[in-house]
Amino acid sequence: MSHQLLKGKKGIIFGALDEKSIAWITAIRCFEEGAELLLTNAPVAMRMGEINKLAEKVSAPVVPCDVSNAADVEQLIDKALEHFNGGFDFILHSIGMSVNVRKGKHYTEIDYPNNQKTLDISSMSLHRVLATCMKKNAINEWGSVVALTYIAAQRVFPDYNEMADAKALLESVARSFGYHYGVNKQVRINTVSQSPTRTTAGSGVKGFDGFISYAEKMSPLGNASAQDCANYCVTLFSDYTRMVTMQNLFHDGGFSFTGVTQAVIEQMEK
Ligand SMILES: NC(=O)c1ccc[n+]([C@@H]2O[C@H](COP(=O)([O-])OP(=O)(O)OC[C@H]3O[C@@H](n4cnc5c(N)ncnc54)[C@H](O)[C@@H]3O)[C@@H](O)[C@H]2O)c1
Repeated sequence: MSHQLLKGKKGIIFGALDEKSIAWITAIRCFEEGAELLLTNAPVAMRMGEINKLAEKVSAPVVPCDVSNAADVEQLIDKALEHFNGGFDFILHSIGMSVNVRKGKHYTEIDYPNNQKTLDISSMSLHRVLATCMKKNAINEWGSVVALTYIAAQRVFPDYNEMADAKALLESVARSFGYHYGVNKQVRINTVSQSPTRTTAGSGVKGFDGFISYAEKMSPLGNASAQDCANYCVTLFSDYTRMVTMQNLFHDGGFSFTGVTQAVIEQMEK
């Protein structure tokens, strides 16, 4: 299915690790819709070599970039400007990493230096990328930036741990920078709050299986898949959503506004 919604547009996709990654699937959909792409991920994530398969599929170069490293981000944006022969139109920020979750630390006992690293990679990286783009005048007028988030930023999901705080910060950066980039160059910045999805990052959440089936039962439309998320991102990069900015957009089959469902009531009555 292609409507060439992104014909003539150029964009950077962060975070395609393997074929389950939301970024991977979004890259394919953007390519099918006519976009020209540049892919990037942390050098350590590239050692698996998987991203080269995607690069071939979507005819895109791959530029390594650890988003917590300012020099890497500068270099990435310079390379993108060179590759695209000027500015570009969209960015997908699909990055998340919790050091304390990896180390098995409970939320009430997190290590603060590790927490800094988590917030730097998962949240402030959006600021670093946007600030670098603004400085280099890299995003074209009416460009669009999307970062992926989760509803644990608004409501408590105990096992989401410090990533809940990271997502709250990410959403705030999108809002605040969305103001400045809007005034500066009509660039829009939004977060998409996605249903739980079976990916490497998703499965890192403790009790993920229970979590995903609970969300499925609590969503009138069921959980949104990575493919659905990719389609939604395409619309947000397209010219059909030009006046949408500074929003946290729930893409979750209705989960966020559902108090209870019949399916959950029946489960409780068992
Ligand atoms: N899977 C879910 O259930 C779910 C739900 C809502 C939101 N999200 C969000 O979607 C985004 C994508 O995650 P995913 O589920 O596709 O998992 P994923 O593991 O495929 O993607 C996470 C990516 O972050 C990258 N990354 C980590 N540290 C980095 C660094 N220092 N520099 C550059 N990149 C780095 C990883 O290499 C990986 O490609 C994340 O922001 C995640 O929090 C996921």
